[in-house]
Amino acid sequence: MRIVFAGPPGAGKGTQAARLIERLAIPHISTGDMLRAAVKAGTPAGQEAEVYMKAGQLVPDSTVIAMAIDRIQENDAREGFMLDGFPRTREQAEALEAAMKEADLSLDAVILLEVDDALIVERITGRRTDPDTGTIYHMTFNPPPAEILDRLVQRSDDTAEACAARLSKYHQDTAPIIPFYEERSILRRVDGVGNPDDVTARLIEALG
Ligand code: AP5
Repeated sequence: MRIVFAGPPGAGKGTQAARLIERLAIPHISTGDMLRAAVKAGTPAGQEAEVYMKAGQLVPDSTVIAMAIDRIQENDAREGFMLDGFPRTREQAEALEAAMKEADLSLDAVILLEVDDALIVERITGRRTDPDTGTIYHMTFNPPPAEILDRLVQRSDDTAEACAARLSKYHQDTAPIIPFYEERSILRRVDGVGNPDDVTARLIEALG
């Protein structure tokens, strides 16, 4: 299956993708994770991206498109993939469609995980990640075990200020991909509010 997982920042895409890929046996390709790895490694792309990410702005299309298209052409993605956080602009959606058309492929589904803005800030500012395992926690909604508290990290773009900028960019630049995929009849809306197990069940149903 070739899937795009879309939705506002903090909607729970990373949390749910970790559960779904085990079941679907396809790679989870998060452009956010790839960019954070590039920042950590200090590559030229990472150095460029860091400034945008910290401010809650989008990294330029040219950088992200090349990175994502190269990644879906790797061997492990031959039979399918779950793209998380890409595409995020109409230009990215068009580039993905063109690259897939060239390979005689198309997307099976675009899942839109919907969560109201009012819930997003709390989800984002309370998020902590375990750098050893990549597990995503929330200090209230999914509290980490006490013995790993000291090693947890908070993303530098998980401040209330950057969160507001990310939400605004989402509505301005990313929301236009929704009609793009609606026109192609592959958009499936899933309610991302509630118990994470219930959200997983809704996603499984939406993926058919
Ligand atoms: P990226 O890493 O993609 O961030 P994002 O889309 O903003 O999404 P998040 O990772 O913040 O949230 P999520 O939906 O995965 O939620 P999570 O599961 O963690 O991108 C970061 C930056 O990179 C961008 O701002 C941009 O600068 C750049 N970038 C990336 N891709 C790009 C692109 N294509 N083009 C340009 N720039 C790009 O959950 C959040 C919290 O909520 C967690 O604490 C979790 O425990 C909790 N939670 C999850 N589910 C529930 C639930 N059901 N109930 C209560 N709490 C929940």
